[in-house]
Amino acid sequence: MTEREKELHQRAYTEVKKHQERVNADPYRQSFHLMPPAGLLNDPNGWIQWKGVYHLFYQWNPFACAHGAKFWGHFSSADMVKWKEEPVALAPSEWFEKNGCYSGSAVDQDGELALIYTGNVKDEEGNRESYQCMATSSDGVTFEKKGPVIDELPAGYTAHFRDPKVWKHNGSWYLVIGAQTTDEQGQALLYKSGDLKNWTFEGPIAGSHIGGLEEFGFMWECPDLFHLDGKDVLVVSPQGLEQESIYYQNTYQAGYFIGEMDYETPAFHHGDFFELDKGFEFYAPQTAVDDKGRRILTAWMGVPEQDEEYHPTIEHGWIHCLTVPRQLSVKGSTVIQQPVEELKELREKHVEHKKAEIGPEPVQLENVSGKSVELSINGLEGIEGIFETIFRGEARLVYNKEERLLTLERKNMKTRLTEQRHARVENLRDLQIYMDASSLEVFINGGETVMTSRFFPEDDDESILLKSSEKTSFTVEKWNLQAINK
Ligand code: FRU
Repeated sequence: MTEREKELHQRAYTEVKKHQERVNADPYRQSFHLMPPAGLLNDPNGWIQWKGVYHLFYQWNPFACAHGAKFWGHFSSADMVKWKEEPVALAPSEWFEKNGCYSGSAVDQDGELALIYTGNVKDEEGNRESYQCMATSSDGVTFEKKGPVIDELPAGYTAHFRDPKVWKHNGSWYLVIGAQTTDEQGQALLYKSGDLKNWTFEGPIAGSHIGGLEEFGFMWECPDLFHLDGKDVLVVSPQGLEQESIYYQNTYQAGYFIGEMDYETPAFHHGDFFELDKGFEFYAPQTAVDDKGRRILTAWMGVPEQDEEYHPTIEHGWIHCLTVPRQLSVKGSTVIQQPVEELKELREKHVEHKKAEIGPEPVQLENVSGKSVELSINGLEGIEGIFETIFRGEARLVYNKEERLLTLERKNMKTRLTEQRHARVENLRDLQIYMDASSLEVFINGGETVMTSRFFPEDDDESILLKSSEKTSFTVEKWNLQAINK
């Protein structure tokens, strides 16, 4: 490690220590979600199972609850159940990354863990340069920087050129990277390499004005291309999509195209874009395949440019968290997300209400309450009218059968006025809800639709209320979920 790196790592730890007490005193601190020890977290990075251990890095500003010159923070886990905080992986110590070690991915190369990430550089006038860089490790904890491996922009693109996601296909390395054309159109570009160090630009594979897609955002962030269940899937976070009724309700979206990758041309032939999540906070997802062959996604439970200064956890010196890890599968034209089965190991204190009778008066079923819980509601096919769940008096999930609409409602962080997000759900069958101290992840109909959001209830309200405009009955199960920290 260079002296400069040592100094930056030390400064980060000093800062974390300084805030530790007020961070830990925050009732909104999560129990089974990964969070920064202090400061700001955004994208998950370098997600990989390497030598049997899961490594999950993240964009981190240790010095403020705001975006800035990012570090890579690091967690590891043997089982995705208990997680350990590892030392800082990358600090913006070098000229090619001085304004941030931005997002990227991880691969194993001949027994070494290689990180490929974007070095962000800005001059006084705000002009940007982007370098795609490499760092390697033989122990998975300490990284040695190798410097830029792509140091030129392809012709016709701006310096909004970042977030390389690397994988191996037919014996070659490939990476897909988020890019912006000089006329401000978002695209995903493909590069190829034999050794991770020398890369050739193969061409754009998808984006605005490519393969029949019209204008589709001014920038594409965090692309991720993978093969799953006989299809190729491109996950991406496009910026600049205009809201249309219940679509694209957040400032920026994250979603996917299903199609077929042609590595020769190259081109990704795909269908329509679908949002991965219909809640308030979900962005920059990244996937990895593990030793069991599962494709697992995790995402930032936040959205860029979302009035962050009003976030209630800032006064406690930290902001944002990651989603739980979710296993992906493809069914027809839908990517299904389900919490990884390992999360069942966090369960304790099972409560079950078979055929619970619910009517227009809100009911609190016995022992169905808490702060960090999993709630499973099955047998909802028969409900009529309007069915509602109220979480800790602060958020509501409302299904309107006639309108086939599921609505998640909470109070706006800035105005405290009610705000809503909607999802089209033809026929509600089941809900699996992961509620933590300040978040809700709602998996609908086995994960066909997901709504992910933060929420900030009163500390002493642990109620979960159910009601239905028409008398009905269904099965409710609940578990308390244990904390994930060792
Ligand atoms: C997405 C993003 C990435 C970038 C990183 C910087 O949230 O803007 O494009 O690499 O965050 O923290």
